[in-house]
Amino acid sequence: MKERIARILLMSDSHCMVIPHWKQKGQTEKGAVGWIVEFFISIWKLFNFRFFKKALKKAGSMGRFDKVIYCGDLAECVWNERGMITTNDIHAIERFKALIELGIDVRVNDIHYIPGDHELGYILPLSCDPKGGISWRSINNFESLFGPLFSGFSIEDFHFLLLSSSLIIQSVEHLSERERKFIIRLRDNQYNFIRNYFACRKELGTVFLFLHDPDVLEAFHAQVLKYKVLCGGATLKAFCGHMHTEASLEKYQNLGHIARAISTKEKILRWLFNRNEKGKKVMQWAKDNLRRIELFKKYNLQIVPSTAGMMGRGGGFLILNLYSDGSYEIKKHKI
Ligand SMILES: [Fe+2]
Repeated sequence: MKERIARILLMSDSHCMVIPHWKQKGQTEKGAVGWIVEFFISIWKLFNFRFFKKALKKAGSMGRFDKVIYCGDLAECVWNERGMITTNDIHAIERFKALIELGIDVRVNDIHYIPGDHELGYILPLSCDPKGGISWRSINNFESLFGPLFSGFSIEDFHFLLLSSSLIIQSVEHLSERERKFIIRLRDNQYNFIRNYFACRKELGTVFLFLHDPDVLEAFHAQVLKYKVLCGGATLKAFCGHMHTEASLEKYQNLGHIARAISTKEKILRWLFNRNEKGKKVMQWAKDNLRRIELFKKYNLQIVPSTAGMMGRGGGFLILNLYSDGSYEIKKHKI
């Protein structure tokens, strides 16, 4: 008889503000467009914490969970693109973490946090902070609060691989040589970890891959091909944060079409994007979106929704149920 063997709560991208959003540094470049963008983002940010608490209240009323996996961007820091580097960041994020631990019925050691861009630092294509990006300091702060950047565990024939997309995807060009080497070594360690993880598990059932930014699936897939780590015939399913709602995938695809520009409408839109340097950067990135979407399908990618959705729409969380016959089901819960 099929029995449930585990119940796992998946949450992501709450973007709780460590300081009021109007005090956050390095958000967008000013100028007419910058102000308009910032105005709408600010409205969304006003409600993030409220959505986070609503999500905790709802999940907290749903009984015991065996695990919680949080897919990154729990909080936004004092400096938008620098990750958790100030004491303010650490203290506020400690409080958000405590709310999860108090609000959800799960053992504290069974809560797993994947680092997001906002915890480790990142450089936006539309960046306006010359000191933004991943750093040794943000990594150390993350690890002392949440534990390792990458990890894995198994529940019977279900295997969970939790990775840091930032380690793979974020540029290290802005860093000193020492710091750059430190992060590159961590990146290599993560690749070794992936290879060893699969090497130790010859008889694979289902592998769930968790990461923040799904663009990293390309680099992951390259490792899979290079080292033939999945020759055991495992079923693979990826989960990511970062996109906030399933609907974002559609926008991602549309941008890809504009960057490829086959129709006249797409050519006009690409021309408009290419009129300034930042738009050009967006087009440069988006030209590979269609190729990546094919890979997303191959990995059966599922977006773990932001508790606040995209501008307040489509938010919630997922519950992953695992069964003794090797099957699983995923349910989305709106808040
Ligand atoms: Fe996010």
